[in-house]
Amino acid sequence: MDQLLPPEIAEAERAFPEALAACRDLDAFLRLKGAYVGREGSYVARLMDLLKAAPKDQKRELGAAINALKNAWEEALKARQAELEAAKKAAGAAAWDPTLPPPLPARGALHPLNRLMDRLVEVFRPLGFHVEEGPEVETEEHNFDGLNIPADHPARGSADTFYLAAHPGQLLRTHTSPVQVRTLRKLKATIHEKGGIRFLAPGRVYRKDEIDPTHSPMFHQVEGMLVGHGIGMQHLKGTLEYALRALFGPATEIRLRPSYFPFVEPGCEVDVSCPLCAAKGCRVCKGSGWVEILGAGLIHPNVLEFAGIDSKEWSGWAFGMGVERMAMMLSQTPDLRLFFENDQRFLEAMGGLD
Ligand code: PHE
Repeated sequence: MDQLLPPEIAEAERAFPEALAACRDLDAFLRLKGAYVGREGSYVARLMDLLKAAPKDQKRELGAAINALKNAWEEALKARQAELEAAKKAAGAAAWDPTLPPPLPARGALHPLNRLMDRLVEVFRPLGFHVEEGPEVETEEHNFDGLNIPADHPARGSADTFYLAAHPGQLLRTHTSPVQVRTLRKLKATIHEKGGIRFLAPGRVYRKDEIDPTHSPMFHQVEGMLVGHGIGMQHLKGTLEYALRALFGPATEIRLRPSYFPFVEPGCEVDVSCPLCAAKGCRVCKGSGWVEILGAGLIHPNVLEFAGIDSKEWSGWAFGMGVERMAMMLSQTPDLRLFFENDQRFLEAMGGLD
């Protein structure tokens, strides 16, 4: 056989038993196996090339020699593989400590923004508020007309609003206020029986804003609304003071500044004393001690009338607040985008929002 096979093969054959015994784990074993009997570049592969190129009268003898060598190697490899696998199994069994607790599977949880909205719902629930929802694809009627927003109002422009190209008159709602229109229409039937209407409407809204640390084309709002007899600004202020103290702490002060929204009159923006610096002035409140948190006001009579509710008998208030802004403040998160990137480490660290 030695005359038939090239010298490097003879050398490989001599070295084989020692190399095989030196394989202490399956990785090393597989490397050796590849080098000897692998499909490409191995000693066996080289011998096969040699056989192909050999003169016809030598093929028979050479073929038999190669086969014998290949079989011997494969048998030895198989035996060693069984040994290594058995050793690995035994080592695994020895390392298993049945007294250790089982590994806990990773658990899912509600998103921090949903938890914050749930918290707000719980703050208002004892005051008799329930949750109403509306669709994210809305009509111009609910998003604008029913809210006393004039036809030429800039917010209606396609620079701010996502309109559905294939469905004229439909859009992605730009605020949660269209739920006011839907809910007033729905609940007017029982308004006398219940003595009024009160609800909260949390949800997603959409605006054509460039993405940056404080803007996103999709964000969340919570709408609140109350209709009753003789409702005025004092009720709005008292309710907001209660709710915002429940959320930001009992020392929180609120401040109403006059502002304009077509669907309220009078309208205001509401600030809370900065919960992070106790109104002394910090990065979050930009040194002013106050943070703007929501828009609000007394429901415009046109909104009640549009929904079919007599504005001479009923009055009420409404507010809409930005959830991301509040979440950023409560958790001192500097960049709103973190809430939408679903990085597990961030989401887990957000436990503090409840
Ligand atoms: N819808 C208004 C906004 O998105 C907020 C608001 C709601 C103001 C209700 C007044 C009353 O900015």
